[in-house]
Amino acid sequence: MPGLAIVGAQWGDEGKGKVTDLVAERADVVIRFQGGNNAGHTIVRGSESFKFHLIPSGILYPGKTCAIGNGVVVDPKVITEEIDGLRRRGIDVSGLKISANAHLIMPYHMLLDHAGESKLGKLQIGTTRRGIGPCYADKAARLGIRVQDLLDEKILRQKIYAALEPKRQSLRPFAKDPVLDLHAMTEDYTSLGHRLEPFITDTPRLVWDALDRDRLVIYEGAQGTLLDIDHGTYPFVTSSNPVAGAACVGAGVGPKDIDDVWGVAKAYTTRVGAGPFPTELDDPLGDRLREAGGEFGTTTGRPRRCGWIDLVALRYAARLNGLTGLAITKLDVLTGIDPLQLAVRYHGPEGASFDEFPYHQSIVHKVAADYVELPGWDMDLRGVRQLSDLPSEARDYLSFIEEFVGVPVVLVGVGPGRDEVVWSGAARHLERAAA
Ligand code: IMP
Repeated sequence: MPGLAIVGAQWGDEGKGKVTDLVAERADVVIRFQGGNNAGHTIVRGSESFKFHLIPSGILYPGKTCAIGNGVVVDPKVITEEIDGLRRRGIDVSGLKISANAHLIMPYHMLLDHAGESKLGKLQIGTTRRGIGPCYADKAARLGIRVQDLLDEKILRQKIYAALEPKRQSLRPFAKDPVLDLHAMTEDYTSLGHRLEPFITDTPRLVWDALDRDRLVIYEGAQGTLLDIDHGTYPFVTSSNPVAGAACVGAGVGPKDIDDVWGVAKAYTTRVGAGPFPTELDDPLGDRLREAGGEFGTTTGRPRRCGWIDLVALRYAARLNGLTGLAITKLDVLTGIDPLQLAVRYHGPEGASFDEFPYHQSIVHKVAADYVELPGWDMDLRGVRQLSDLPSEARDYLSFIEEFVGVPVVLVGVGPGRDEVVWSGAARHLERAAA
């Protein structure tokens, strides 16, 4: 399996970072292919915890090639801070590579993100306000500024000027904001360019080289399938494609370079920001999941909305991504909840029933979930390392998911620690190789 894509199968925050970090040990290259610093993940190593927004998981392995692909939008200030933070903690960042073709988040993208959300008022998407949408919009409008532009001050100034001109009207409320000064911005970004220059690379070549040598490459997704701009709950989505297919474009490989696709899903569901969420628990049980699962955003600190696992949405994600494996995280959070509910169908206001995820926005907004009930368990799962040592109720819960979605479970998270994982038979070959 030289090419493994690891993607979010829900609305983001599924624990992709931890899963990627576990497999990264064996990989030659880990490459992120979309999103930006709207993402955030925490890796726990012993007593230390590391938070990343842009740097791919795997950077904690000394010298590991961790690339930021061309499909990512890069805030050069954020990446520089992450590099500095890691260096201060003695972490070797020499393996970090940044695509010369990745687009840059500029100060005006953040202002436009804020302004756009404020204008929408009650209809706002609940973006992370990191400038992600406006940056991808400029990329599509061919007004984007790329990482390679940081290396030529004259070109950079011209491009910033060209990008700012058409935005004058929308940026009028910020006309006096010093971050919009063309010369200051050019200077600021040029000096960030000097700092980032040693990391800037032709990233697809790194990936091709590893694949040609039959080495493992991990394509690391951000956000989740239901936040995909084409296939998610539009317009309550992010501005990129978190699905596995986007790994081809965002890392610069062909479909045949992806051999396996793992979808990461929590044993329940969470969502940040606005938008439909058919299995949401807006009640004390939802609060309990939030507390027990520590469901507060890594990037914005916002409390996440919590609910039951949604197998209709998960089966949709399995099909869209061509999942070959499921990684179920945070199973331990369900301990002590009895019975457990799993959504297997939706029903609409006029008695309509939906076995498949509805394509029409108005329907998705109105549906409620129909559940199957399974018994819960009381046992603390954190010490479990073998599937056979899980309580039978937990095994039944996993088997039900596996059968309904039609994808084998490859690993199960039973606690926040790196080793708090149960590998299933389906991924034994990887576990052995990782040992
Ligand atoms: P944006 O990506 O900042 O434009 O935000 C668009 C939507 O995606 C909002 O609902 C955000 O809460 C959501 N979102 C963006 N990144 C993440 C993430 O990493 N995890 C969960 N939700 C996210």
